[in-house]
Amino acid sequence: MLRDPYAFHARCVERYGDPYTVRSFNGPVVCTGKPENIRAIFAADPACFGPWASRALLPMLGQGSVIQLRGEEHRRERALLGPHFGGARMRAFTEAMHSAARAQLHRLEPGREFRAAELAQAISLEVIIRAVMGCQEPREIDALRAGIQRFVGCANPLMLFAPALQRAPFGLGPWARFLAARRAFDEQLLAHIARRRAELERGAEPSDILGAMLASRYEDGSPMQDGHVRDELVTLLFAGHETTALAIAWALYWIHREPGVRERVRAQLAAAPDDPSHAGYLEAACQESLRLHPIVPDAPRYVARELELFGVRLPVGAGVTWVSSLAHMDPVLFSEPERFRPERFRERSFKPWEFLPFGGGARRCLGSAFALHEMREVLALLLQECDLELLDDRPLRARRRSVTMGPEGGVRMRLASRRAG
Ligand code: HEM
Repeated sequence: MLRDPYAFHARCVERYGDPYTVRSFNGPVVCTGKPENIRAIFAADPACFGPWASRALLPMLGQGSVIQLRGEEHRRERALLGPHFGGARMRAFTEAMHSAARAQLHRLEPGREFRAAELAQAISLEVIIRAVMGCQEPREIDALRAGIQRFVGCANPLMLFAPALQRAPFGLGPWARFLAARRAFDEQLLAHIARRRAELERGAEPSDILGAMLASRYEDGSPMQDGHVRDELVTLLFAGHETTALAIAWALYWIHREPGVRERVRAQLAAAPDDPSHAGYLEAACQESLRLHPIVPDAPRYVARELELFGVRLPVGAGVTWVSSLAHMDPVLFSEPERFRPERFRERSFKPWEFLPFGGGARRCLGSAFALHEMREVLALLLQECDLELLDDRPLRARRRSVTMGPEGGVRMRLASRRAG
C-alpha cells in the first residue's frame, strides 16, 4: 500500500471485489474505484465528513489550513479562497510560469543528464513563490526558497505520523530541529505578510494570491488574521508544489516516449502560438498523463456522522475514499486503458466521477486550474525553446513520495539542443 498504491488497490479489487476495506495506521478505510460509488461520495452531505489523519498534518500546516477545517468553517474558507483560483485569474500567472521555466532551462547544460522531476520541482517551487507569495526580486525569491527547503528538509513524514516521536529531550533530536526550522520559517513568512499588508495599505494592487487573500473578507466582513494567512500559505505551498512538479515530469516522459506526440504538440503550438490557454492536443496530453498516473490516487475522508453509501454502513471514525487509479483504468470508459492516447480526451468528455485527478465534491483540489495552467505553460515553453531527449526509454513505475506518486528515478533526460528563436 505504502510503496505502490496503484498495484495494491488493483490487487484488493481482484481479491475482494469493489468496495473493499483497508486497515490503515489511522483505522479502517472503505475504498472504491467504481464511478457510481465515487459519485455517491462526492454527492454526500459534506457535514458527514472531516479531514482524515489531520493530527499528522497539524504540525506543518497549522489548524487554520483549509485541509484541516470541516463543516461550515471549511465551506466559509473555500468561499473566501475559491475565487482567487478561478480559470481566468490564472492567466495573470503566465509570466511567472514562463520566467521560472526559462530560468531553470538556462541552467541545463547541453548533453548533460538531468532528472525531469528535479527540473520540474525547481520550476514549480519558483512559480509558487512568485504567484502565491508575490515575490519578484531574485534575493527575496532565493531567501524564501532556502527557508522552504530547510523547513521541508526537517519534516520527516514518519515523525509527523507517529506522535511518540514528537519529543525533544534536552531540546535535541529531529523533533527539536523540526520545531526550530518551523519557527524560523514562520518568522520569515510573517515578516513577508506584514510587508505585503503595508504595500496594500499604500494602495498597491493585489496581483498575487497572498495579496488577494489579504484584501478579501469573509462573508461576515472580517479579514483573515496573519497566523491564519500563514497556515494557508504553507498549505498552498505543500499542496501545490510537488504535485504539479510530478505531473509535469510524467507528462514530459510520455510526450517524449510516444512516437509522434511531441510533434503533434509542437504543430498545435506553431498553429496557435498566441492561444493563451494552449487547449487542444497539449491539454489532452496533460489529462492523459494524469489519467495514467494520478499523483494523489486516493484521499480518505473521516466519517464524522454515520451514513450509508453504496450499500455500506460507514460508522463514525471510519474512513472512506475514492481510488482514481482504479476508475482511470476502467476499460469501458477508457478503451485500452494501459495505452497513452491523448485523443480519447478529444473524442469525448468524462464525468467528474469518471476522470478525477483532482478529486471531487466539497474537497475538490482548490488549485486544479492553477496546476493545469502551469502544466500547459511550462510544457509549451520547454517544447518551443529546446529539444529534450528521453534517456529512460523503458516503462517507468510510479513510486510513492510522501503522499504523492512520482515516476521511479525521476525520469532521466538530456538537453539535446536549444531551439533558435
Ligand atoms: C497536478 C497537480 C495537483 C494535483 C494532482 C492535485 C490533487 C489534489 C487532490 C486529489 C486533492 C484532494 C481532493 C479530494 O479530497 O477530493 C487536492 C486537494 C487540494 N489541493 Fe491539489 N493538486 C494539485 C495541485 C494543486 C495546486 C497547484 C494547489 C494550490 C496552489 C493545490 C491546492 C490544494 C488544496 C488547498 C487542497 C485541499 C482542498 C480542501 O481540502 O478543501 N493543489 N489536490
